[in-house]
Amino acid sequence: MLSFEDRVVVVTGAGRGLGRAYALELARRGARVVVNDFGGEPDGEGADRSAASAVVAEIEAEGGASVASFDSVATPEGGEAIIRRALDSWGRVDAVISNAGILRDSSFGKLSGRDLDAVLDVHLRGAFFVLQPAFRTMKEAGRGGRIVLTTSASGLFGQFGQTNYAAAKMGLVGLMKTLAIEGARAGIVANAIAPFAATRLTGGADAGLDEELLAPDRVAPIALALAHERCSANGEIFLCGGGWFTRCWVSVARGWVAASGSITPESVLDHFEQIRDRTDAMEPRDAMEVGRLFQDRLSP
Ligand code: NAI
Repeated sequence: MLSFEDRVVVVTGAGRGLGRAYALELARRGARVVVNDFGGEPDGEGADRSAASAVVAEIEAEGGASVASFDSVATPEGGEAIIRRALDSWGRVDAVISNAGILRDSSFGKLSGRDLDAVLDVHLRGAFFVLQPAFRTMKEAGRGGRIVLTTSASGLFGQFGQTNYAAAKMGLVGLMKTLAIEGARAGIVANAIAPFAATRLTGGADAGLDEELLAPDRVAPIALALAHERCSANGEIFLCGGGWFTRCWVSVARGWVAASGSITPESVLDHFEQIRDRTDAMEPRDAMEVGRLFQDRLSP
C-alpha cells in the first residue's frame, strides 16, 4: 500500500470535486492534509468556508488528520498563508497538489480583461503563489518533495471559448517543466495531470459517458501516485479520467533542413509536408537539448 504516514500534503481547491477526492484518499492513507479552499462560485465570485470545513469534518469522521485553510491561492499573501498553515500545524510540507480552479468562459472577441485576470490569477499566478513558498520550504528541509500541477486538455489542445483558461493551463506546463529541472538536484519533482471528471466545473456530459465512471475518485489514484516519493516521473503530463491514464508530451519532429543559400517562403511551403511530418518525433528534456538538436541538424 502506498502510505503517506508522517507526510504532510497541501491540496488547493480541496473543498469540492477533484481536490476533495485527493484530500480524502490522502488522509485515508495516513497523510496530514491541508484542505485549502476559498469556496465561492465556479466563476470565483464569493467565498464560502463551508466547502473546506466539510471536507475536514469528513476526514476527521474517518479518523484522519487535516486542517482547513480558507485563503485564496490568487494572491502572494494567500499562497504564503496556505503553506504557513502546514508549517504551523505540522512543521513540514512533503507534497503540494495545486488544483484550485475557476472558469470564466467567453469567446475570444468578447473576453473581458476582468475574466482574463480572474482566470490567470487563480490558475497561473495561484500556482506560483502557492508553489514558491512550498518549494523554498522543501529545499530548505532537504528532504525533497512532490509537486503536482493541474493542467487541462483545453490548454494542451485548445477549446472554443476558453482562451483565458487554456493559456493559463498551458502556462502551468511551462512552470511545471521548469520546476522539474530546477528541483531535480534537491529531489523535488514536478508533474502535471490533465484530468477529466464530472464536477461542478465540468459536467462530463459532453463525452456521453456515465457520471459514475467520471467520478473524481477515478482520477485521485494518479494524483496520489505522483504525490508519493515512490514515483520517479519528473516533468511529465498525464491525461486521466474514468480509469484511463496516459501520457501527453510536447515533441519535436525531424523536420526539414534547408540547403545553404537563400531560404524563401516558397521553399518552406514546398517542404511543408516534411516540416509537419511527425515520424521520429522526440521529446527534448529541456531547452538546452533543443539547442543540441539545432547543432545536430545544422552541422555539416
Ligand atoms: P470544482 O469547482 O469542483 O473544484 C475546484 C475548487 O477550487 C472549488 O472548490 C473552488 O472553491 C476552489 N477554488 C477556486 N478558486 C480558488 C482560490 N482562489 N483559492 C482556493 N480555492 C479555490 O472543479 P474541479 O473540476 O474539481 O477542478 C479542479 C481542477 O481540475 C481545476 O484546476 C480545473 O481547472 C481542473 N480540471 C478539471 C477538469 C474536469 O473535468 N473536472 C478538466 C480539466 C481540468
